[in-house]
Amino acid sequence: MTPQAIISEIARDFPDAWAGQGIPEADLAALRAAAGGDPARFRTLLKRRLAGDPVAYVLGQIHFRGRRFRMDRRAHITDPETSHLVEAVLAAARDLPDGAVVAEVGVGAGALAISVALEAPRVTLVGLDVDSDALALCRANQALHGVGFDLLESDMLHGWGDRQPPALVFGDLPWGDETTVYDEFRDVRHYLHMPPAAAFPLGDRTSAQRELIQQVMRLGWPSRVILNCGTLPEADIQSLAAAAPGRRAVIHRPAATAALLDITVG
Ligand SMILES: C[S@@+](CC[C@H](N)C(=O)[O-])C[C@H]1O[C@@H](n2cnc3c(N)ncnc32)[C@H](O)[C@@H]1O
Repeated sequence: MTPQAIISEIARDFPDAWAGQGIPEADLAALRAAAGGDPARFRTLLKRRLAGDPVAYVLGQIHFRGRRFRMDRRAHITDPETSHLVEAVLAAARDLPDGAVVAEVGVGAGALAISVALEAPRVTLVGLDVDSDALALCRANQALHGVGFDLLESDMLHGWGDRQPPALVFGDLPWGDETTVYDEFRDVRHYLHMPPAAAFPLGDRTSAQRELIQQVMRLGWPSRVILNCGTLPEADIQSLAAAAPGRRAVIHRPAATAALLDITVG
């Protein structure tokens, strides 16, 4: 049976699920490629996807900035738009001295931090996450890419200890709500498949980002802070900027679905 015949059969047998999931063509192509011409394998993968499993968990991997990363239920599925955050961090890293410390808060499976480590080898990464399971997957991805920066199990920066303050703190911490999703294929259901600590903030849609900014301010660290704000409305991002009085805050919009808040001293 061809993949198209299997798709037609499954769509006919499960019309409500098929209509409800609205599986994008890119996912079907990825499942076909993973099945490698084995019809039974394709059917198995498609059934999982139809049940609602995100394609990254079905395949056990993502591709980000041209690299493959292991992905499973232990971690948030990296949103491709966060490549803009990586670009901003790389640009900032060019102004830093050799060995400067760059911390990602909410490192998850590590796609962002590992990309920075590989593309800006002059700086020293540290990854922090509240979720030890995500950190275990990040370690597997570090091994896959031959990088070995420190990982700390930590709520925000509370586990930083007496290390020197990082020159730069960045992150794609949980933000938003059901009104601010990236696109129709990543609605709230997509994020509800992910670890509870990863998808949405504990408070309002900017509370996690605000908590981090306020912590840096309270600590008096001179660190630059660059946060992904995705599709948050301008007013939300302005309110985050206001959490850093006396610092310079710039909102970058490198794409329609990518806003970055960049906070510097002076
Ligand atoms: C949207 S995910 C991004 C993960 C990763 N940066 C990526 O793009 O694949 C947010 C991450 O922040 C972590 N996180 C949530 N609350 C946190 C907190 N209070 N302290 C540290 N990390 C936190 C989650 O566990 C999750 O890994």
